[in-house]
Amino acid sequence: MGSQKQAFILLSVLSFFNFLLLSGADDVYYEFILQETEFTKLCSTKTVLTVNGSFPGPEIRARRDDTVYVNVHNQGRFAVSIVWEGIRDSINGVNELIQPGRNFTYEIELDDEIGTLWWHARSAWAKATVYGAFVILPAAGEEYPFPAPTSDHAIILGEWFRQELTESVVPGQPDAYAINGHLGESYGCNDTSYQLQVDYQGLYLLRLINAVANETMVFAIAQHSLTIVGQNASYAQRSFSNSLTLAPGQTVDVLLSASQNVGQYYITARSSSSGRLNTTGILYYTTSTGF
Ligand SMILES: *[C@@H]1O[C@H](CO)[C@@H](O)[C@H](O)[C@H]1NC(C)=O
Ligand SMILES: *[C@@H]1O[C@H](CO)[C@@H](O)[C@H](O)[C@H]1NC(C)=O
Ligand SMILES: *[C@@H]1O[C@H](CO)[C@@H](O)[C@H](O)[C@H]1NC(C)=O
Ligand SMILES: *[C@@H]1O[C@H](CO)[C@@H](O)[C@H](O)[C@H]1NC(C)=O
Ligand SMILES: *[C@@H]1O[C@H](CO)[C@@H](O)[C@H](O)[C@H]1NC(C)=O
Ligand SMILES: *[C@@H]1O[C@H](CO)[C@@H](O)[C@H](O)[C@H]1NC(C)=O
Repeated sequence: MGSQKQAFILLSVLSFFNFLLLSGADDVYYEFILQETEFTKLCSTKTVLTVNGSFPGPEIRARRDDTVYVNVHNQGRFAVSIVWEGIRDSINGVNELIQPGRNFTYEIELDDEIGTLWWHARSAWAKATVYGAFVILPAAGEEYPFPAPTSDHAIILGEWFRQELTESVVPGQPDAYAINGHLGESYGCNDTSYQLQVDYQGLYLLRLINAVANETMVFAIAQHSLTIVGQNASYAQRSFSNSLTLAPGQTVDVLLSASQNVGQYYITARSSSSGRLNTTGILYYTTSTGF
């Protein structure tokens, strides 16, 4: 019996997969654990709130039109809510405060956003360490409207405070800036430097995010010009620049061509107003492509 029925089921299954292929949109799942984590920076050790013990927190990667589910478990001491910066569609639970010991799943429907966004804690004290990149790749079968990069890297400019930050402390001026959590050598405390390794002649897509709360930041890589290709999760008219200025919360996607002499170059980030503080990282070339 039922070979017709079987054929019908087979057809239905096939057309369902065909629908999935055509629509291309996926559901993407992440688990975030908010927890207290110890770090030693600026010559002293303190406990900060992180996602999964890392600073910055995990990077989210999805494609245009995907739906992203982020289940956030709060194992910290205070209630926290997460902001999905720059997502244009509505998100459930924007005002949800996740109490200690509880969890909440955000459902984020991506629409026409493309490029780079970020997520962070809403309150000022937690925002200093609870943040990460939200990378939105072209939909399946689509390409970048610029030459395909060898690889892409999120570079998040952040800040660091000596004082312990809790719900009852309003952060003031930062004591240092950071690139992907690294304070670099400017502060005399043997803090590690962010290192970006590139292959000679490679092309890299850098996703810059200014996570510093209240300051416009200036970013540059010595002897390298950067090609702006996107901003705030939209493609941008291509333009060249030796240094980038990022407003608080802004993201800029740039192409970096590793076409200088093989060597090491300083990466710098500083506040545009108080020239006093800066953080440095290192761009270093390798020649594994053999030349
Ligand atoms: C966070 O940690 C949990 C528990 O170890 C793990 O299941 C989850 O995959 C981690 N999330 C990310 C984004 O790494
Ligand atoms: C809390 O997490 C559990 C499993 O980790 C999940 O089944 C449940 O739906 C989550 N609750 C909320 C409100 O997201
Ligand atoms: C940024 O400004 C807001 C509002 O003025 C303030 O509440 C917050 O503490 C400031 N954050 C930092 C890190 O300076
Ligand atoms: C960065 O800060 C260090 C230490 O304060 C200082 O010596 C250096 O001149 C600064 N560099 C820039 C480019 O501002
Ligand atoms: C930095 O490291 C060097 C070599 O390991 C050490 O001599 C120096 O005392 C350290 N400085 C600080 C401030 O920790
Ligand atoms: C990008 O977003 C930042 C932060 O919301 C804003 O200050 C800036 O003006 C935006 N830039 C563009 C080009 O949309």
